[in-house]
Amino acid sequence: MPTRTQSRSSNRSSNRSSSGNRGGGSRSAFSWGESAAPVLGAALAGVAIGMAANYGRKFIMQGMEAAAGDWDEILAAEHDMALAIFDKMLATDETQTFKRKMLLMKLTHALDKHAHQEEMVVYPALREANEAADADHLESEHGYIKTFIFELNEMGPDASNWLEKVREFRQLVSSHAHMEEEQVFPRFKQDMDEEQNAHITSLVNRDGFWMA
Ligand SMILES: [Fe+2]
Ligand SMILES: [Fe+2]
Repeated sequence: MPTRTQSRSSNRSSNRSSSGNRGGGSRSAFSWGESAAPVLGAALAGVAIGMAANYGRKFIMQGMEAAAGDWDEILAAEHDMALAIFDKMLATDETQTFKRKMLLMKLTHALDKHAHQEEMVVYPALREANEAADADHLESEHGYIKTFIFELNEMGPDASNWLEKVREFRQLVSSHAHMEEEQVFPRFKQDMDEEQNAHITSLVNRDGFWMA
Protein backbone atom coordinates (compact mmCIF):
# COMPACT_ATOMS: atom_id res chain seq x y z
CA MET A 1 0.00 0.00 0.00
CA PRO A 2 1.50 3.38 -0.93
CA THR A 3 2.20 5.79 1.91
CA ARG A 4 0.22 8.98 2.06
CA THR A 5 3.25 10.93 0.81
CA GLN A 6 3.80 8.58 -2.09
CA SER A 7 0.20 8.70 -3.27
CA ARG A 8 0.13 12.47 -2.80
CA SER A 9 3.27 12.95 -4.94
CA SER A 10 2.06 10.52 -7.61
CA ASN A 11 -1.27 12.36 -7.82
CA ARG A 12 0.66 15.55 -8.13
CA SER A 13 2.83 14.27 -11.03
CA SER A 14 -0.14 12.83 -12.93
CA ASN A 15 -1.99 16.14 -12.63
CA ARG A 16 1.06 17.96 -13.83
CA SER A 17 1.76 15.72 -16.80
CA SER A 18 -1.84 16.05 -18.00
CA SER A 19 -1.60 19.85 -17.85
CA GLY A 20 1.82 19.60 -19.53
CA ASN A 21 0.27 17.67 -22.41
CA ARG A 22 -2.35 20.31 -22.85
CA GLY A 23 0.41 22.88 -23.14
CA GLY A 24 2.08 21.22 -26.13
CA GLY A 25 3.50 17.79 -25.28
CA SER A 26 6.98 18.56 -23.90
CA ARG A 27 7.77 18.17 -20.20
CA SER A 28 6.76 21.40 -18.58
CA ALA A 29 8.98 23.31 -16.21
CA PHE A 30 6.61 22.28 -13.44
CA SER A 31 7.28 18.55 -13.62
CA TRP A 32 9.48 18.33 -10.53
CA GLY A 33 7.68 15.33 -9.00
CA GLU A 34 10.66 12.90 -8.88
CA SER A 35 13.33 15.40 -7.90
CA ALA A 36 11.13 16.90 -5.19
CA ALA A 37 10.62 13.56 -3.43
CA PRO A 38 13.94 13.55 -1.51
CA VAL A 39 13.49 17.22 -0.59
CA LEU A 40 9.96 16.51 0.63
CA GLY A 41 11.26 13.47 2.56
CA ALA A 42 13.97 15.55 4.23
CA ALA A 43 11.45 18.24 5.12
CA LEU A 44 9.12 15.66 6.67
CA ALA A 45 12.02 14.13 8.58
CA GLY A 46 12.84 17.62 9.88
CA VAL A 47 9.24 18.09 11.01
CA ALA A 48 9.32 14.67 12.72
CA ILE A 49 12.53 15.55 14.58
CA GLY A 50 11.03 18.88 15.61
CA MET A 51 7.87 17.18 16.85
CA ALA A 52 9.86 14.57 18.76
CA ALA A 53 11.93 17.31 20.40
CA ASN A 54 8.76 19.14 21.33
CA TYR A 55 7.22 16.01 22.88
CA GLY A 56 10.48 15.46 24.78
CA ARG A 57 10.26 19.00 26.12
CA LYS A 58 6.62 18.50 27.06
CA PHE A 59 7.41 15.24 28.89
CA ILE A 60 10.20 16.92 30.83
CA MET A 61 8.05 19.93 31.73
CA GLN A 62 5.02 17.86 32.58
CA GLY A 63 7.12 15.28 34.42
CA MET A 64 8.38 18.03 36.70
CA GLU A 65 4.82 19.08 37.41
CA ALA A 66 3.46 15.57 37.78
CA ALA A 67 5.92 15.15 40.63
CA ALA A 68 4.36 18.17 42.33
CA GLY A 69 1.36 16.15 43.55
CA ASP A 70 -2.39 16.66 43.40
CA TRP A 71 -4.17 19.03 40.98
CA ASP A 72 -4.43 21.79 43.61
CA GLU A 73 -0.71 21.55 44.42
CA ILE A 74 0.19 21.67 40.72
CA LEU A 75 -1.95 24.80 40.25
CA ALA A 76 -0.56 26.43 43.41
CA ALA A 77 3.00 25.81 42.17
CA GLU A 78 2.04 27.50 38.89
CA HIS A 79 0.68 30.50 40.82
CA ASP A 80 4.06 30.82 42.57
CA MET A 81 5.87 30.56 39.23
CA ALA A 82 3.73 33.34 37.72
CA LEU A 83 4.21 35.59 40.76
CA ALA A 84 7.98 35.05 40.52
CA ILE A 85 7.90 36.27 36.88
CA PHE A 86 5.98 39.37 38.05
CA ASP A 87 8.73 40.06 40.61
CA LYS A 88 11.37 39.88 37.88
CA MET A 89 9.29 42.30 35.78
CA LEU A 90 9.01 44.72 38.69
CA ALA A 91 12.82 44.65 39.11
CA THR A 92 13.37 46.08 35.59
CA ASP A 93 13.71 49.71 34.49
CA GLU A 94 12.52 51.38 31.26
CA THR A 95 15.90 50.85 29.52
CA GLN A 96 15.49 47.03 29.74
CA THR A 97 12.89 46.82 27.00
CA PHE A 98 14.09 43.46 25.63
CA LYS A 99 14.03 41.85 29.07
CA ARG A 100 10.56 43.26 29.71
CA LYS A 101 9.29 41.85 26.40
CA MET A 102 10.78 38.41 27.11
CA LEU A 103 9.33 38.32 30.63
CA LEU A 104 5.90 39.36 29.36
CA MET A 105 6.01 36.55 26.78
CA LYS A 106 7.00 34.06 29.46
CA LEU A 107 4.24 35.28 31.75
CA THR A 108 1.67 35.14 28.93
CA HIS A 109 2.57 31.53 28.16
CA ALA A 110 2.53 30.50 31.84
CA LEU A 111 -0.86 32.16 32.50
CA ASP A 112 -2.33 30.81 29.27
CA LYS A 113 -1.45 27.22 30.11
CA HIS A 114 -2.63 27.67 33.69
CA ALA A 115 -5.96 29.26 32.71
CA HIS A 116 -6.56 26.50 30.15
CA GLN A 117 -6.17 23.79 32.80
CA GLU A 118 -8.59 25.56 35.11
CA GLU A 119 -11.12 26.50 32.42
CA MET A 120 -11.14 23.07 30.77
CA VAL A 121 -11.02 20.91 33.89
CA VAL A 122 -11.32 22.52 37.32
CA TYR A 123 -14.04 25.12 36.71
CA PRO A 124 -16.31 22.71 34.78
CA ALA A 125 -15.86 20.17 37.60
CA LEU A 126 -16.74 22.92 40.10
CA ARG A 127 -19.93 23.69 38.17
CA GLU A 128 -20.85 19.99 38.24
CA ALA A 129 -20.38 20.08 42.00
CA ASN A 130 -22.86 23.00 42.31
CA GLU A 131 -20.11 25.61 42.75
CA ALA A 132 -21.02 27.52 39.59
CA ALA A 133 -20.94 30.96 41.25
CA ASP A 134 -17.29 30.53 42.24
CA ALA A 135 -16.39 29.04 38.86
CA ASP A 136 -18.05 31.92 36.99
CA HIS A 137 -16.44 34.55 39.20
CA LEU A 138 -12.96 33.04 38.75
CA GLU A 139 -13.43 32.59 35.01
CA SER A 140 -14.48 36.22 34.60
CA GLU A 141 -11.27 37.26 36.40
CA HIS A 142 -9.29 35.28 33.82
CA GLY A 143 -10.83 37.65 31.26
CA TYR A 144 -9.37 40.66 33.13
CA ILE A 145 -6.01 38.89 33.35
CA LYS A 146 -6.03 38.68 29.53
CA THR A 147 -7.02 42.35 29.40
CA PHE A 148 -3.88 43.28 31.37
CA ILE A 149 -1.75 41.29 28.92
CA PHE A 150 -3.42 43.10 26.03
CA GLU A 151 -2.84 46.50 27.65
CA LEU A 152 0.82 45.80 28.40
CA ASN A 153 1.39 44.71 24.80
CA GLU A 154 -0.37 47.82 23.54
CA MET A 155 1.55 50.28 25.73
CA GLY A 156 5.01 48.81 24.94
CA PRO A 157 7.87 48.03 27.34
CA ASP A 158 9.20 51.61 27.57
CA ALA A 159 5.92 53.23 28.64
CA SER A 160 6.25 55.45 31.72
CA ASN A 161 3.38 53.65 33.50
CA TRP A 162 4.61 50.12 32.65
CA LEU A 163 5.67 49.25 36.21
CA GLU A 164 2.46 50.66 37.65
CA LYS A 165 0.42 48.50 35.25
CA VAL A 166 2.47 45.40 36.12
CA ARG A 167 1.96 46.11 39.84
CA GLU A 168 -1.82 46.36 39.39
CA PHE A 169 -1.76 43.18 37.27
CA ARG A 170 0.23 41.30 39.93
CA GLN A 171 -2.28 42.37 42.55
CA LEU A 172 -5.16 40.86 40.55
CA VAL A 173 -3.32 37.57 39.93
CA SER A 174 -2.25 37.37 43.55
CA SER A 175 -5.76 37.90 44.97
CA HIS A 176 -7.24 35.51 42.38
CA ALA A 177 -4.68 32.84 43.30
CA HIS A 178 -5.35 33.48 46.98
CA MET A 179 -9.09 32.90 46.54
CA GLU A 180 -8.42 29.64 44.68
CA GLU A 181 -5.80 28.33 47.10
CA GLU A 182 -7.42 29.42 50.36
CA GLN A 183 -11.14 29.05 49.69
CA VAL A 184 -12.36 27.43 46.49
CA PHE A 185 -9.90 24.58 45.94
CA PRO A 186 -9.75 23.31 49.56
CA ARG A 187 -13.55 23.32 49.82
CA PHE A 188 -13.87 21.46 46.53
CA LYS A 189 -11.15 18.95 47.45
CA GLN A 190 -12.74 18.26 50.82
CA ASP A 191 -15.84 16.89 49.11
CA MET A 192 -13.91 14.60 46.76
CA ASP A 193 -13.06 10.98 47.32
CA GLU A 194 -9.61 9.68 46.43
CA GLU A 195 -10.70 8.46 43.03
CA GLN A 196 -12.21 11.82 42.00
CA ASN A 197 -9.10 13.58 43.26
CA ALA A 198 -6.84 11.32 41.17
CA HIS A 199 -9.12 11.79 38.15
CA ILE A 200 -8.99 15.60 38.30
CA THR A 201 -5.20 15.44 38.82
CA SER A 202 -4.77 13.29 35.71
CA LEU A 203 -7.02 15.60 33.64
CA VAL A 204 -5.08 18.68 34.77
CA ASN A 205 -1.80 16.92 33.93
CA ARG A 206 -3.09 15.87 30.52
CA ASP A 207 -4.35 19.36 29.66
CA GLY A 208 -1.08 20.88 30.87
CA PHE A 209 0.85 18.46 28.66
CA TRP A 210 -0.81 19.71 25.48
CA MET A 211 -0.50 23.33 26.53
CA ALA A 212 3.20 23.12 27.62
FE1 LIG B 1 -7.74 30.88 38.00
FE1 LIG C 1 -5.17 29.48 39.28
